[in-house]
Amino acid sequence: MLRFALYSGAVLLAAGLAILWTVNREVASRARHTVETQAEMVAQQSLRGRLLPSDFDAPVRGQRLAQLDSLFRRDILMPSVVGTRLVNRDGTITYAARHTLIGTKAPYTRNLAAVFAGRSERRVTRTVSWRGQQNVKVLQLLVPVRETATTKPLGALEFDQDYRAIEIGVSDASHRLVVILGIALLVLYLSLFPILHRLTAQLASRNRRLREQAAEREELLEAEQTARAEAETIQRLLTEQNSRLRELDLMKDEFVSLVSHELRTPLTSIRGYLELLMEEGGNLTAEQERFLRVVDRNSERLLHLVGDLLFLAQVDAGKLTIEHENVRLEEVVQDSVEALRPIAESRGIELVTSITPLPSLVGDRACLAQVLDNLVSNALKFTAEGGRVSVSLYAEGDSAVVEVEDNGVGIPTAEQTRLFERFFRSSRATDNAIPGTGLGLAITKAIAERHGGRISVESEEDVGTSVRVELPLAMAHDHSAPAPQFAA
Ligand SMILES: Nc1ncnc2c1ncn2[C@@H]1O[C@H](COP(=O)(O)OP(=O)(O)O)[C@@H](O)[C@H]1O
Ligand SMILES: [Mg+2]
Repeated sequence: MLRFALYSGAVLLAAGLAILWTVNREVASRARHTVETQAEMVAQQSLRGRLLPSDFDAPVRGQRLAQLDSLFRRDILMPSVVGTRLVNRDGTITYAARHTLIGTKAPYTRNLAAVFAGRSERRVTRTVSWRGQQNVKVLQLLVPVRETATTKPLGALEFDQDYRAIEIGVSDASHRLVVILGIALLVLYLSLFPILHRLTAQLASRNRRLREQAAEREELLEAEQTARAEAETIQRLLTEQNSRLRELDLMKDEFVSLVSHELRTPLTSIRGYLELLMEEGGNLTAEQERFLRVVDRNSERLLHLVGDLLFLAQVDAGKLTIEHENVRLEEVVQDSVEALRPIAESRGIELVTSITPLPSLVGDRACLAQVLDNLVSNALKFTAEGGRVSVSLYAEGDSAVVEVEDNGVGIPTAEQTRLFERFFRSSRATDNAIPGTGLGLAITKAIAERHGGRISVESEEDVGTSVRVELPLAMAHDHSAPAPQFAA
């Protein structure tokens, strides 16, 4: 508040001083001008017709001097005029109120030239008054003197106006001005102060708000940058983890493939010797034979599992190659069904086929047989005694369709999307302890797709399941696969 008052006061004061200075100058110049005009008028009116051309010829002496003295002293030398002279065109003073100057040269030849050209001249200077007073400040006027208004100037009339007269007038005016201006400024200041103060306060508060907003924005920006940096860190971590996971996945694949190989060889050998033992049968007790059959069943399951694992390892490695042979699907279906019929019979399940003849298909017979084995054995496995399984084969457009239907336990709807995941088994399978590994459908799907086909399942719990595999009869040309070794 105090600072504001001081500032605005100082500004007003400066403005006041500037006005004062300007007005003062103006007043002074006007005062001078007035004095000048007065002097010119006096010179011209009082002297018109009373000065003679001969007064400029040569320094005035004798009686004429006395005449001029009385003329000048009576009409011109008022208290404010302290000196007067006549100067001829040669620059010689022909008459002066102070007689000692008569006959001398005027000191201001340059100004005289202008006067003889017809202009009045003026200057502020110091001089000696006609009464002999030293160093008097005067406004010196030089006025041309003419015989008539149009003739060339005869000479110049000098006129020394006491400067104090002007100064007194000017300083009077300025004193009044100072007082008036002071009062005006004070009134102005007092009336403007509240307004200015309110305006300044508003500006200050707006500035404060702007600064606050800027600070807020900066904070937001910082927060955003931090968040971005965090996101980047997380992204980097995720990328690292991903690549680590990919590595682990690869290691797992290699491990499975290696282990499967290493398991298959000894298992095959075990099963070979088992077979030999069972063929020689005669030396074995009934119990020993029963044990051997258990070993046989389990080793077969083990071999099967190892086979499935190896198969999927190949799929993962992109190394699943299939044969391109002419396959008669009717035969494949028949073989599969016949191979599994004993199981169906043992469980009192009706196993029927419906086969429509169709052209042979190019593909891998062993793999396609595996598809049928998986599907039919699943149907039998998940169907209760006395149920029914039907296998149909027919052509639809350019595709062969294999459909395996049962009226078994079915699959809960929520679990159906996961059927083709490896090791996935439905709750019905696990709850009822139905044996299996959850690899069959994944393998079936891989084989169907490798043949350019697809697989789909429809199922309803406690109603039954239908699995449908579509296989194009003419397999799409596959560059990665070896060329068929036979005429189509
Ligand atoms: N015909 C079917 N009826 C009921 N459930 C089935 C049928 N076929 C497959 N499933 C379900 O799909 C799961 C995966 O099948 P699969 O991959 O062949 O594995 P697995 O036969 O070893 O259990 C099975 O565990 C079972 O829950
Ligand atoms: Mg299965």
